[in-house]
Amino acid sequence: MKFQLNIILGAAVLFSLNMNAAVIATELPDRQQALPSVPKAKQTYLQPAALSDIPTGEFGDKVRLGYQLFVNTQQLRDKYVGNQLNCVNCHLNAGNKANASPLWGAYFAYPAYRKKNDKVNSFEERLQGCFTYSMNGKAPESGSKELVALSAYSYWLGMSGLMLQHNVAGPVPELSDSELVKGAKRDDFILPEAISSKMDQNALAQLPGRGYPAVPKAEQAYSPERGLVVYQAHCQSCHGQDGQGQIIAGVAALPPVWGAQSFNWGAGMHRVNTAADFIYENMPLGKSVQLTPQQAWDVAAYINSQDRPQDPRFKGNVVETRSQYHQHDGFYGQSVAGTVLGSTSSANFPKK
Ligand code: HEC
Ligand code: HEC
Repeated sequence: MKFQLNIILGAAVLFSLNMNAAVIATELPDRQQALPSVPKAKQTYLQPAALSDIPTGEFGDKVRLGYQLFVNTQQLRDKYVGNQLNCVNCHLNAGNKANASPLWGAYFAYPAYRKKNDKVNSFEERLQGCFTYSMNGKAPESGSKELVALSAYSYWLGMSGLMLQHNVAGPVPELSDSELVKGAKRDDFILPEAISSKMDQNALAQLPGRGYPAVPKAEQAYSPERGLVVYQAHCQSCHGQDGQGQIIAGVAALPPVWGAQSFNWGAGMHRVNTAADFIYENMPLGKSVQLTPQQAWDVAAYINSQDRPQDPRFKGNVVETRSQYHQHDGFYGQSVAGTVLGSTSSANFPKK
């Protein structure tokens, strides 16, 4: 009897539920469905440990100093830095962001051959390159406390990430200063067995998320004129109509993208393709891929057809510097709006 009653009650409940559904359906004919989610890429990126896990003690102090120098490189202004930039302006999120040339992706890729200076570069030599060109400065000396610290920070991010990924317990193994600055792509670099059994040096040198991914080719050749329109719509609000960013009390709250306070004519970012890669993936800041590839190429061409500090390799002749070092996408040595770019650029730090 009780059983039967339950069935009857249950049927009544079902019936009224159906009624409700019918009512709602007629009231809201366009009820929303969950959006189909489109996977961006089947990719998990290395995830370094939290900065609060950096150990106390001498080694941890080096890692912490490296972090400090990376996010506030202006503390080295005039000593090693000749513009208003900080490393973090191009290597976003304290050098952690995948596809924004993360430090954890870089550390396991050195020593490596670089065409730019035609030799095998240790990690500290690669760091020196960004001081000379991107920071328009004077590189700290090999083995200096700054290069040791930046290397220690990069190593710690990468190693802590690998250890987490492969369930290796314990603190990140400490390295000496002279080991730190070399980078990890060397035969005498010791990896925990749990990692080395899964990944060889080549895999470690190409971790997913390293560098800036290549922007797809655009239909039309890049154009600074079209780039100006993109710049005005998507960039100017932060980087300024004059490209000088926003300097508040002597500190760039928003970084300059051309002019005397920006990266120089030798920096990777002055190449239109490199800037397009960076911009497509990372700008406007805080908004994931917003521009079309064409817009990214055009706006990269626009910012890189403006004047900036001289190429440090310049020895008095723009044509020569161009033919020697600028056989790539870029405007150095080309005539734009009546001036040959590079011909009036001011001398590089520290010669000013
Ligand atoms: C204006 C943008 C910019 C700034 C500022 C900058 N870099 Fe870079 N950095 C780049 C670009 C672009 C590359 C890629 C190299 C290329 O394409 O020439 C790079 C490459 C690197 C690499 C090698 C990455 C790899 O995976 O091989 C390291 C390490 C590095 N930078 C460290 C630094 C440090 C340290 C600073 C500050 C002292 C700094 N960068 C400042 C743009 C910048
Ligand atoms: C919402 C503000 C904002 C917008 C809009 C924006 N940026 Fe940026 N951009 C930044 C900030 C902030 C950084 C430095 C990032 C950091 O330090 O974390 C940066 C860094 C850069 C850099 C590398 C550093 C430098 O100064 O050379 C370039 C190049 C750049 N932006 C280009 C662009 C372009 C091109 C656009 C338009 C498509 C754009 N940005 C839109 C805020 C913005």
